[in-house]
Amino acid sequence: MIRLFFDCDTGIDDSVALLYLLARRDVDVVGIASTAGNVPVDVVTSNNLAWLELCGRTDVPVHVGSPTPLEAELMTTEDTHGPLGVGYAELPAATVSPSAVDAADAWIEASAAHPGELIGVVTGPLTSLATAIRRDPALPGRLARLVIMGGAFHVHGNTTPTSEWNVAVDPEAAAEVFAAFGGEAVGPPIVCPLDLTESVALSPDHLVLLAAAAGSNPVECPDPTDDPGLRSVADNVVIRHLVDALRFYFEFHHAHDEGYLAHLHDPFAVMVALAPDIVETVPARVDVELTGRFTRGMTVADERSMTGEPNARIATATDVDAVFDDLIETVGGFARIVARSDNPGIIDRLRDDSVP
Ligand code: RIB
Ligand code: CA
Repeated sequence: MIRLFFDCDTGIDDSVALLYLLARRDVDVVGIASTAGNVPVDVVTSNNLAWLELCGRTDVPVHVGSPTPLEAELMTTEDTHGPLGVGYAELPAATVSPSAVDAADAWIEASAAHPGELIGVVTGPLTSLATAIRRDPALPGRLARLVIMGGAFHVHGNTTPTSEWNVAVDPEAAAEVFAAFGGEAVGPPIVCPLDLTESVALSPDHLVLLAAAAGSNPVECPDPTDDPGLRSVADNVVIRHLVDALRFYFEFHHAHDEGYLAHLHDPFAVMVALAPDIVETVPARVDVELTGRFTRGMTVADERSMTGEPNARIATATDVDAVFDDLIETVGGFARIVARSDNPGIIDRLRDDSVP
């Protein structure tokens, strides 16, 4: 089993990433850290708990992070992800509670329980991980791999002209995490920046393939001429909520002249965490601007060792078609199983290879 710790600010694309992780029978999601970002931390936590319960996976512990970044005031983006962070989806409220262990301690405990084996992936601000490293500076050396969705190096930012959302929410945390990695003892994280993640653009046609893979009916193809907020009537519960979530994301990108599409930053990052060979990377020293009037939150990549040794590997290329083939097959197949399971025993069904 691949042991993985997932730190997110769920979020629409974080939701797709979570479903992908739950769908992977070879992955043990040791824990989920809820970090404030797209929406406040209590909403992130509720979303994580709700998706897990919907999928029969209340065995996965959810940990609550700080309500605020290390120093900055909290910035959220309900206009991008919806009032509750999952677009138009109305997830059934979870009946289970989060763990009493907070997100930072959960990072520490998970890495101590699986030293040299645990893969960490962060698809939200780095607040929880930075807090964990402040509490236990030896944490980075215990991780087998760290993948971060964040940063923008040679493309326009999506939060300011020079900054990407996850870094912009908590620049101090990002700076502290990058400073903690690199060198002999601690392998450099793989960074998945907007430069690459914006090429992982889900279209309505991909949703059609996903619904078909799940055996969901009717197969729906959202369209920019649809009434805004049109709700899905798909009979597959996972597909129904996913379509409602992603339609909001389609409408947001369309309204910002980026096309009727959805950038799947976070599922891509978790796929890289599980299969780093799907990306080409370049070594670089990454630092974060903290004081620039116009550039605060900018990630600066030194690819020529002018300012120090590399502390990161920046993902620069991938086979996007192969990414979508994997995503659709994996999440579609999982949605099919979830829809057929009417009991919390889905965990066994997932691991029972006899299930067609
Ligand atoms: O900039 C994109 C990132 O910010 C994604 O992780 C998205 O979910 C938001 O957190
Ligand atoms: Ca995210």
